[in-house]
Amino acid sequence: MNCRSVTIAAAAAIVLSLTSVAAVRGQAPSVAVQPPAPPMAEDVFKNIQVLKGIPVDQFLGAMGIIAAATARGCSECHRQDGPADWTRYADDTPMKQVTRQMLLMTQEINRIHFGGRQVITCYSCHRGMHRPKVTPSLVALHAAPPDEPDDIVDPAPGAPPADQIFNMYLAAIGGAVRIAALTSYTGRGTYQAYDEDAVPLEVYARAPNQRLLVWHTSFGDYAMGYNGREGWIAASQAERPVPVEFLMGQELDGRRLEAELTFPTRITQALTAVRVGLRVSINDRDVQVVQGTTVGGTLVTLYFDMETGLLTRLMRYTDSPVGRIVTQYDYEDYRPVGGVRIPFKWTRTWLDGRSVFQLTDVQPNLTIPPARFARPAQ
Ligand code: HEC
Ligand code: HEC
Repeated sequence: MNCRSVTIAAAAAIVLSLTSVAAVRGQAPSVAVQPPAPPMAEDVFKNIQVLKGIPVDQFLGAMGIIAAATARGCSECHRQDGPADWTRYADDTPMKQVTRQMLLMTQEINRIHFGGRQVITCYSCHRGMHRPKVTPSLVALHAAPPDEPDDIVDPAPGAPPADQIFNMYLAAIGGAVRIAALTSYTGRGTYQAYDEDAVPLEVYARAPNQRLLVWHTSFGDYAMGYNGREGWIAASQAERPVPVEFLMGQELDGRRLEAELTFPTRITQALTAVRVGLRVSINDRDVQVVQGTTVGGTLVTLYFDMETGLLTRLMRYTDSPVGRIVTQYDYEDYRPVGGVRIPFKWTRTWLDGRSVFQLTDVQPNLTIPPARFARPAQ
């Protein structure tokens, strides 16, 4: 893991820890049903002058984007007294001051020239560099174009209807009858983050939308769960400052979608405002591109292999004031489980790096005790 990955991963860690602290604070002691209103960044942090009025998880997601867009680690703008020491982040530094001006400038550009739409972001100019380039890069001009389709998909004239693509996918993995008969599964395999060693992984999934992933690190268990209502990340304090972290907003909604798509019959209802874009090529395979929005407003793009019909990529986007926070899943190694082909391997790519989930052994339709998906204790 390089330094930047470490710092951005750390940002993600505090994003989630702080939101959970807030979640706990905002809750009435005994009722745990309604997700609490998220506190704003300026309520939780000490020295917020520009990025006000946004929830804490979005604020810290924005820090992740700023770091990625300008190729700066957290400690290049913030003073730190030691690893995972967050106490001095409120101190001002010259780089923070420049960044505030940049935030205001970017807002101004969008307001004055683009009617307030978010069309210019830090990344538009910086592209992962400290300072934007003035001269076109001949190397970049003549290099092979990156294998990355546009984030916003426009409907392509003559494209097949989304339902046709969904139905081809459902047929490719086993057909509606078999899919409906798969109501749960448990699996074992490995989880590998960045360039670290693979560790044992367990997966529990129950239709329609419950899913728990647990991997066993040298620090203890690391779990990501969604139980139909709440989503969380639980980890040892060696890895994250707070042991149980609840997700909110579009991040929670994105997690719900991932859980729903574990049992893909719901794919036809999972998204609204669905449109099919131009075919693109990913890893030398032609794919159909379907984009839509979840109930909670999360933008989602699904990529289906034209030849096999299989879902090979999912991208989901969470809004922030400095651009969309993006998460990518690449699915492969489809194998039958109870007559339904599911991906045994998926790769999660985020601003902080990449991790690979590989299943080796999956059992369909075992009884999973409901307690597996219970909201973890604090
Ligand atoms: C390019 C500079 C830059 C980078 C890189 C950066 N930040 Fe920031 N950070 C800022 C600015 C500017 C503010 C104040 C924002 C405001 O005033 O609205 C801030 C504020 C914060 C605060 C609030 C502190 C307080 O109590 O007021 C936290 C926490 C934070 N950043 C975390 C991070 C983390 C974690 C990273 C690494 C992913 C990071 N930042 C990377 C510029 C940066
Ligand atoms: C319209 C283009 C543009 C946008 C948008 C933009 N920047 Fe910049 N930024 C620049 C330019 C150009 C410079 C270099 C200025 C110079 O050299 O004097 C710069 C410099 C900086 C620096 C100082 C770099 C250094 O090494 O001294 C930081 C930090 C920075 N930008 C952060 C951001 C952030 C964060 C955003 C998004 C909120 C952003 N910028 C948006 C054009 C842009």
